[in-house]
Amino acid sequence: ITIYVPRDSAACSVGADAVASAITREAAASGADVRVVRNGSRGMLWLEPLVEVATEAGRIGYGPVSASEIPALIEAGLFTGGAHGKRLGLVEELPWMADQQRLCFARVGVTDPVSADDYLAHGGMAGLRRALTMDPAEVVKEVTDSGLRGRGGAGFPAGIKWNTVHNTPGELKFVCCNADEGDSGTFADRMLIEGDPFCLIEGMAIAAYATGASEGYVYLRSEYPDAVATLRQAIEIAYARGWLGQDYLGSGQRFDLFVRVGAGAYICGEETSMLESLEGKRGMVRSKPPIPAITGLFGKPTVVNNVLTLASVPSILAQGAAAYAALGVGRSLGTQVFQLAGNIKHGGVFETAFGMSLATLVNDYGGGTRSGRPVRAVQVGGPLGTYLPASTMDLPLDYEAFAAAQAMLGHGGIVVFDDTVDMASMARFAMEFCAEESCGKCTPCRVGSVRGVETIDRIVAGVEPEANLVLLGDLCELMTDGSLCAMGGLTPNPVLSALRHFPEDFTARHEGTA
Ligand code: NAI
Ligand code: SF4
Repeated sequence: ITIYVPRDSAACSVGADAVASAITREAAASGADVRVVRNGSRGMLWLEPLVEVATEAGRIGYGPVSASEIPALIEAGLFTGGAHGKRLGLVEELPWMADQQRLCFARVGVTDPVSADDYLAHGGMAGLRRALTMDPAEVVKEVTDSGLRGRGGAGFPAGIKWNTVHNTPGELKFVCCNADEGDSGTFADRMLIEGDPFCLIEGMAIAAYATGASEGYVYLRSEYPDAVATLRQAIEIAYARGWLGQDYLGSGQRFDLFVRVGAGAYICGEETSMLESLEGKRGMVRSKPPIPAITGLFGKPTVVNNVLTLASVPSILAQGAAAYAALGVGRSLGTQVFQLAGNIKHGGVFETAFGMSLATLVNDYGGGTRSGRPVRAVQVGGPLGTYLPASTMDLPLDYEAFAAAQAMLGHGGIVVFDDTVDMASMARFAMEFCAEESCGKCTPCRVGSVRGVETIDRIVAGVEPEANLVLLGDLCELMTDGSLCAMGGLTPNPVLSALRHFPEDFTARHEGTA
């Protein structure tokens, strides 16, 4: 009997470890021959801890389950998929799972994340194996043809970036994975690393082969200790299997992979700051050009990609560029791993082709707000993302449609707010966040964000509101145009969108209508 209980930190935070221990204990007491596999999370976070039992018909889920319910569940026939109030049916057939197109997350929640055999049994290494039969330039072309764009947020074509690194001569080149997932409402990088670390390792090895890199670094945020431990364990196993190191997978090349843990600065998610931090320096943004593809880590040509970009590559190589490019809309091809968070009934990870509407994702799959009140605003793309009012939620989830609506998809984080949200405080928070996290290199961001907080405070307090609104507009324009990086440059997004769509919240308090 095989039972799956996630080891993902979100599942563990609601008691998955205790559930796993209870199952082992009760099974031993009853003499049942039970093997408990600690898988990743399926991404239906409201059902965690989600216990699954393998049956001939498929995996049957029960959730959310607490340790104290285990004896009753076993009594009801947990080991054979028996009836119980918490029985959900076949997990793959739940609408949340059945309606997704999982490429990047295909194995997350399915396999044991640190079992190399499980990885191979579920199609692992097929991408790298195929890549190694091709010329590096052909691999770059395959990624270019797939239309894969950077999943960190900017959406820059991955193949073009790889091509620059491939064409830049250098004895030593690097592949750096940005796993400093700092955006509010995002957790897909963490879940991928905790749930299928070999997929990231394989993606990085393909990037290394394609570009001629021999060393790789994963820059992982310190807030993710479980991901750090899982990835380190997976890297060790990959070395033992010959998937990394000298002549990895018989490639005749070397690729060594290291994990580096960040120290808690949001700005270290900006690629040049991350490189500074990797070099052992304070995380300060570098001016671009030169771009990291030419002058990156330690001044060498460097691929810098997000976790999800690199984790998309194995399936692209395994199934071919055309299969990937057949998904999505316009120039937003393939799938995006969306993350539903905030005031949402069903939060979690939903991987689907670009093009689904925001309303479908939030209202149909997400089930609307957890509070049951109407959705008032949705912020997509992290703390620097635009606030969209509920009336604009028919917007399709693709890079261009979002840009046309003065919004951005970013890393795919979607944070939902109900009608009790005060949008003036959210605008203030954006400036406060920028003041807190600014690296301090340029004045529009370092000083502008502090002045922004003060100006919003004056508007809300009714101190010369008209003049201060003009001042806030000017300040935002200056930050957009004059900041060195996206931190200061994009902070006006949430501020101005809150003002544009919810002006009443900025006057309510001093006009006594709040
Ligand atoms: P960017 O547009 O400057 O660069 C995007 C990427 O393309 C970079 O890696 C850059 O080096 C590369 N690139 C640009 N021109 C190139 C060329 N000719 N050849 C090869 N490579 C080239 O954007 P940036 O500043 O790196 O990122 C901004 C985005 O980051 C925002 O749109 C936001 O969505 C996102 N973001 C993500 C966060 C997260 O936690 N994932 C946090 C904050 C922001
Ligand atoms: Fe640093 Fe802010 Fe300037 Fe970016 S915009 S370089 S974070 S001061």
